[in-house]
Amino acid sequence: MKKLTLILIFFIVHSCLFAQSFVANYDESKVPPYTLPDPLIFKDGKPVKSKKDWRKRRKEIFSLFEKEVFGYSPQWIGSTKSEILSRKDGALNGIAKRKEVRLELVNGNKTISLNILIYLPKNSKDVPLFLGCNFNGNHAVSTETDVLIPDSWVGNDKNLHITDHRANPEGRGKEASRWPLKEIISRGFGVATVYYGDIDPDFDDGFNNGVHQLFDVKRDSTSWGSVAAWAWGLSRVMDYLETDREINTGKVIVMGHSRLGKAALWAGAADERFAMVVSNNSGCGGAALSKRIFGETVGSINNAFPHWYCMNFRKYNQKEELLPVDQHELLSLIAPRPVYVASAAEDAWADPKGEFLSCVFASPVYELLGEGKFSASDMPPLNTPVLGTISYHVRPGKHDVTLYDWNCYMDFASGYFKLKR
Ligand code: GCU
Repeated sequence: MKKLTLILIFFIVHSCLFAQSFVANYDESKVPPYTLPDPLIFKDGKPVKSKKDWRKRRKEIFSLFEKEVFGYSPQWIGSTKSEILSRKDGALNGIAKRKEVRLELVNGNKTISLNILIYLPKNSKDVPLFLGCNFNGNHAVSTETDVLIPDSWVGNDKNLHITDHRANPEGRGKEASRWPLKEIISRGFGVATVYYGDIDPDFDDGFNNGVHQLFDVKRDSTSWGSVAAWAWGLSRVMDYLETDREINTGKVIVMGHSRLGKAALWAGAADERFAMVVSNNSGCGGAALSKRIFGETVGSINNAFPHWYCMNFRKYNQKEELLPVDQHELLSLIAPRPVYVASAAEDAWADPKGEFLSCVFASPVYELLGEGKFSASDMPPLNTPVLGTISYHVRPGKHDVTLYDWNCYMDFASGYFKLKR
């Protein structure tokens, strides 16, 4: 009996300590001193001096992110089929062309399908296009009542243990405020979006569904997690876009909010076909520096979402100082292509300052590649974007994607792709 009580006490103390250890720090004065890895120093200590050196150093950094953070994503050796499911010429009250495309990814006897929803301005060609995953289904992005509800949900919910109401047609338009389609189309951009659950359902399922199950790879501590899978899915959408004559694939901007911002950053790093990357409030494991240990930490993200990153990432739970990379280097992998990082002032969990500092510390790589310096060293005031090949803003308010955020992305991208504002 005594023994049992002791064991019980041990477990209670242990679990209290464990819970305690993931309490978030929101006090700037408690940010520990930290040293960031220098993206312009090779592993062997030699400096990176030229663009040619950078291509080699980039490989070192990329491999570290694969091995220690996101996991290795497999090469796509299967086949991809596409089918146009619907077309509508006068969408969004006549200003847009809309189409829905089913992509079928086939590897041996395994198949998975994703639905892509595409809106393009009706009367212009070769427009820049924002590509991103959505959280609630393509029908949730648009208020148009004939946008298809993905099959992957209907009837599957119980099997997938997804307990929310997303399969329900009532979800229509639910995410529309995050995708201001009319404004985007009116400003001369296109949009392509895919439901992230079509690529990989977002729960810890032992990787038995989504795109993971297309491959028979024996999993180990470096195998890809869900964030890498969402990024990989965006590359498969890009494969499709390359076959679509209505799309200019030299102008595809991969973007995402929050966990999908993490995925957009990794997609942009892994796939250099993306011309620009937008990270909206991506936070920990996205644009925010891990070594600041502010808001969400490596330990808390791995604890709450064990399926997002590779198992190796857990080695750094509460040991961020040992991480061989930090997130400014994730931004540097996008160079010399533009990256736009955005924060929300009330989104302390995502560490706005840590997101800003990533831009500051990625700047030397952009400078080496001739892209000019990120022009701020202190956080800019609210609603005052710092624009350049690395761009940054912080707006008032909560964790979300707002019209203000979109207008900033479009202002920058209009100049970059030489559109009229
Ligand atoms: C949680 C998670 C974040 C993530 C966010 C989201 O808050 O801790 O890392 O960015 O969900 O995706 O909405």
